[in-house]
Amino acid sequence: MRTVDLITKKRDGGELTKEEINILIRGYTDGSVPDYQMSAMAMAIFFKGMTPTERADLTMAMVHSGETIDLSGIDGIKVDKHSTGGVGDTTTLVLAPLVASIGVPVAKMSGRGLGHTGGTIDKLESVPGFHVEIDNEQFLELVNRNGLAVIGQSDNLTPADKKLYGLRDVTGTVNSIPLIASSIMSKKIASGADAIVLDVKTGDGAFMKELSEAEELAACMVDIGNRVGRRTIAVLSDMSQPLGNAIGNALEVREAIDTLRGVGPEDLTELCLTLGSHMAVLAGVASDQQAARKMLEQSIANGHALEKFKLFLSAQGGDASVVDEPERLPSAKYRFEVPAKAAGYVSSIAAENMGLAAMLLGAGRATKESSIDLAVGIFLHKKVGDSVKDGESLATIHANGESVSDVITQIYKSIQIQENPVNPPPLLVGEVK
Ligand code: URA
Ligand code: CA
Repeated sequence: MRTVDLITKKRDGGELTKEEINILIRGYTDGSVPDYQMSAMAMAIFFKGMTPTERADLTMAMVHSGETIDLSGIDGIKVDKHSTGGVGDTTTLVLAPLVASIGVPVAKMSGRGLGHTGGTIDKLESVPGFHVEIDNEQFLELVNRNGLAVIGQSDNLTPADKKLYGLRDVTGTVNSIPLIASSIMSKKIASGADAIVLDVKTGDGAFMKELSEAEELAACMVDIGNRVGRRTIAVLSDMSQPLGNAIGNALEVREAIDTLRGVGPEDLTELCLTLGSHMAVLAGVASDQQAARKMLEQSIANGHALEKFKLFLSAQGGDASVVDEPERLPSAKYRFEVPAKAAGYVSSIAAENMGLAAMLLGAGRATKESSIDLAVGIFLHKKVGDSVKDGESLATIHANGESVSDVITQIYKSIQIQENPVNPPPLLVGEVK
């Protein structure tokens, strides 16, 4: 079978068989199918789409292009959560100890951040001593003993996806729903999940800016998961403004601690309870959403969730005393307030621009090799719908340099204030099962 025949078949709207997809992905992984042919194929898929069967076959072909993680040594149903990325999204830091505290085993593989979206590992590394350099055996042992552990992403996971994602990036084929869906799902499945809860973001700071696109992506991923035997559900959530109040690594750890204590921002708390309830039901530790939610709320109220977080931090070398003394976390040298220029109501906080403002401070990575400053970031005092007085602080900038005029300009550009009252946008905008 010649690769060119597969390309023309897809170009003309045909359906590739499982065998054809396997041969293509195997060839692309070992280098016998060159980039130029794979580019043509990606473009053909971009225009012609993929059938549900093709999407599932592509996902599994990518899963089997490299190492797969075997979590069968961990008791229970392993439910993983994936977010399609946003600004100031502290969900994993809260969710992992929260669901673990009610008996959902959390064996999490996480990555570092790139661009304006922060990575869970970066955030956790702002806890002095905390590290994810543990081997697989230790990882499984920790999950069995403590109920949760976080390990860095293996370099050998889904090499076909790594190559293809890089190729799509430079050939105008990133924005294809079947390609995005199979890319994300292949990584989740290769890292050993039995069941998957997806948080698909929509709005300004999200990958999918339009709700209709986010819905389509969610439906596509849920279909793939269920077809290949991993129960999958998706929650659609708003990313038109940053989640919570904190943007920046150590600031978000503080925010996670507050949330586990029951005094976190309302939107972050709600999202964690919603995603956590789905995880608990899929893991079989709660009979339904309502029962699960009650268990999670109780665990926050009685301190079990926070205790689990401490246990998790110290098991991986971290100084758990930061939980009771957050001032031990890295802290920036300077604080600058950003006062409102007029009274009124906040009508929008452009999430992506706020993320870029945090990047200017050094909170994010421009390239994979850049280093980041864990202490810096932005703390929002206002969210969409809040009223503001003239001169009242909209945000505090945590900086390690004295010149932040570009950051201030960026924040003013991102936050709109109007005279008339504004309804805050709903956080949860849909669900796909
Ligand atoms: N994230 C991924 O992992 N893959 C994509 O294709 C797009 C976003
Ligand atoms: Ca946040």
